Amino acid sequence: MTEGTETRGVVAFIDDDEDVRAANAQTLELAGFDVQAFADAESALARLDENFPGVVISDIRMPGMDGRSMFHELRRRDADLPVILITGHGDIQEAVELLGAGAYDFIAKPFAAERLVSSVHRALEQRGLVLENRRLRDAARRADDELPLIGDSPVMAGLRASLRQLADADVDVLIEGETGVGKEVAARALHAWSKRRSRVFAVLNCAALPESLLEHELFGHEAAAFQGAGRRRIGRIEAADGGTLFLDDIESMPLALQTRLVRVLEDRAVTPLGANMPRSVDFRVVAASKVDLGEMSSRDAFRKDLYFRLNVVRLRIPPLRERRADIVPLFGHFLATASQRLRRPVPPLTKSIKARLFEHDWPGNVRELRNFADRVVLKMPDVGDAETESPESLPERMERYEASLIRDALRSTAGDVRATLEKLAIPRKTFYDKIARHGIDLDSFRK
Ligand SMILES: Nc1ncnc2c1ncn2[C@@H]1O[C@H](COP(=O)(O)OP(=O)(O)OP(=O)(O)O)[C@@H](O)[C@H]1O
Ligand SMILES: [Mg+2]
Repeated sequence: MTEGTETRGVVAFIDDDEDVRAANAQTLELAGFDVQAFADAESALARLDENFPGVVISDIRMPGMDGRSMFHELRRRDADLPVILITGHGDIQEAVELLGAGAYDFIAKPFAAERLVSSVHRALEQRGLVLENRRLRDAARRADDELPLIGDSPVMAGLRASLRQLADADVDVLIEGETGVGKEVAARALHAWSKRRSRVFAVLNCAALPESLLEHELFGHEAAAFQGAGRRRIGRIEAADGGTLFLDDIESMPLALQTRLVRVLEDRAVTPLGANMPRSVDFRVVAASKVDLGEMSSRDAFRKDLYFRLNVVRLRIPPLRERRADIVPLFGHFLATASQRLRRPVPPLTKSIKARLFEHDWPGNVRELRNFADRVVLKMPDVGDAETESPESLPERMERYEASLIRDALRSTAGDVRATLEKLAIPRKTFYDKIARHGIDLDSFRK
């Protein structure tokens, strides 16, 4: 038997026979497990849900609910929960069937203690992996929620995956794309998903300032570095120490500053105006450009060395018209946030709104779509008038009604699926099918 308690896993043990229960509980405790013993399936079920950290061992034959029914109920609650069944000689056949249905193992009576213990060890190991995976997935989803990069197109899915991968690689990144495609949200996601997340995300727009001011902003200066310099000023590069420096509209950076920036990127050190010594700075640059920097540098309108330095990792975010699958989810998201922000009800999707969504070219990309959602919520005249339009069809209205009933139920149960199923009196599968179809996000109802 194993010495010590390297894995204090939890084991739920269910058997109606008190002696069997006591003997096995002792065996398992001696093997280092935390044992919760139950005399019947019902009382065990009251304590076992999808977050149960351990494994379940149960006798098959029991008065009241038997091991088979309990196994099926547990599978319904959490298909990944390992269940080990203990069988008498009469029900081997049944145990084999349950194995086919997903039971983790079965052990025929009488059995040696080691047989049970080794099965529990393996099952707990598997359980640990499953729970760890869920934890990671939840954490990823939470991060996504905090920083929504919405979009169902393969392009957006690919972009999210690349950003996640690059986040911790800590290389400088160049993001290219037309106005409003989401370059800044992508840069912020990169920062938020990186190990620099608790440090500063410094933004400098290279198009917003004249050359001399931009220089001071970027590199800073010492006190009395020049006539009228005043106090020492810390530049954005130095201020970004430990964090991320977002250089927006990098294509507008004057050539002379580009030369200085290349040095800074190579040395990871900055020398403020008037300072004698460079100061080393730990920062990551994410640069955004609305134009093709490669093309610009080929006609010497952008410095080649800076271009090559930034071009190590280059992400291009295509315009919205090239990923139309993103339009509906983005618009839905903007409608919901706009109606919350503006304290107006979420308006119905009229035909003219739909026509606009599907036919317009969106030259201002996601930003233009967001502004359109604002106008729709405010019922601005250019978005058409619901009353004068041909009405929604009956099936369309029923769909919308169904979605609103499901949302109401979820709100009143704070996203508790079991309670919602009861309220709506529909099977679980139907429920999940429907929320997928209506694009309802369960997590958003959970506080
Ligand atoms: N995938 C997305 N999911 C959610 N919101 C988005 C997405 N893409 C863009 N947005 C929103 O659209 C607006 C414009 O995005 P952003 O400011 O990142 O664009 P940009 O590419 O930096 O534009 P510009 O070049 O004009 O500065 C912002 O309000 C942003 O939050
Ligand atoms: Mg921007």
